[in-house]
Amino acid sequence: MQQITITTPDDWHLHFRDGDMLGETVPATARCFARAIVMPNLVPPVVNAKLANEYKGRILAARPQGSNFQPLMTLYLTNQTSTQDIIDAKQAGVVAAKLYPAGATTNSAQAVSGIEALYPVFEEMQKQGLLLLVHGEVTESHVDIFDREKIFIDQYMAKIVQAFPELKVVFEHITTSEAADFVLSSANNVAATITPQHLLLNRNDLLVGGVKPHNYCLPVLKRSTHQQALRKVVASGSKQFFLGTDSAPHAKHAKENACGCAGCYSAWSALELYTQVFDELGVLDKLEGFASFHGADFYGLPRNSSNLTLVKQSWTVPDSVTLPNGEAIVPFFAGQTVDWKIA
Ligand code: DOR
Ligand code: ZN
Repeated sequence: MQQITITTPDDWHLHFRDGDMLGETVPATARCFARAIVMPNLVPPVVNAKLANEYKGRILAARPQGSNFQPLMTLYLTNQTSTQDIIDAKQAGVVAAKLYPAGATTNSAQAVSGIEALYPVFEEMQKQGLLLLVHGEVTESHVDIFDREKIFIDQYMAKIVQAFPELKVVFEHITTSEAADFVLSSANNVAATITPQHLLLNRNDLLVGGVKPHNYCLPVLKRSTHQQALRKVVASGSKQFFLGTDSAPHAKHAKENACGCAGCYSAWSALELYTQVFDELGVLDKLEGFASFHGADFYGLPRNSSNLTLVKQSWTVPDSVTLPNGEAIVPFFAGQTVDWKIA
């Protein structure tokens, strides 16, 4: 196939950041996605409805002229989150709350320690119909970084899902066969997002021939057997898996650093790269479900009514993008060839 037209997709997990950065990140996503679930790990984090509304206003103001892109806002859970915060968030149109185990990733220091203490909050989310989005990694320092997702499943994820059978739970950016199997064996109220980097790469792409800081994200890339398991699950067309880029910009100097930040800024190439993966797998017919239907259906939102066409045409991702404040950022797949292009 040389061309494919799909319903306009949505990105069910990304990081826009704030301030000047919005002038770069919002147009990059709005070029092809109609909606996006916006992660709340700002400094300070988006912990209540008021902050979410203000942040939404700044995102809307950064849209390109004529764009109808819609940000979907989320709340950052902490040990101080109250059931009233959940009620207020629902009333303000917030659609989900994000559980970061404290210390798991970028700007998560103020997040949740002692996940069980949040069960009353999960109970209220279940009642209000707010989704629970989970960064599924344990953070204990003795646990090997490559095992952190797998161990989170038994220690926390399975228990949460069992305790709240009506709560919609998204296992975000899954990276292992264990996570894929867990979702497949769960009821329809459990789903997962998958990033382009975890479908395209494995830990060799991070570590062989020198450390590749621009392929460093969290959860970290795993061994190739896990990459193959994720490719298999998207190829199956299961409704429990959908597109979430986890596009997460960091300035070049913060990535190319003795202590480099985690995150791949994929907004400029993600949809094209997903298309490339589905093409490689011989399942382009499954792309629309993954990119445009499964997420909206799971969130209980209408599917988009417009279309988007991709053509099989090679292009090269730029080596660098300049931020509105003059800083450089290296996009995911910089300098590499992508086989598909938005028409
Ligand atoms: O690689 C990542 N970057 N993983 C996350 O969970 C957070 C994100 C970020 O905010 O930079
Ligand atoms: Zn993320």
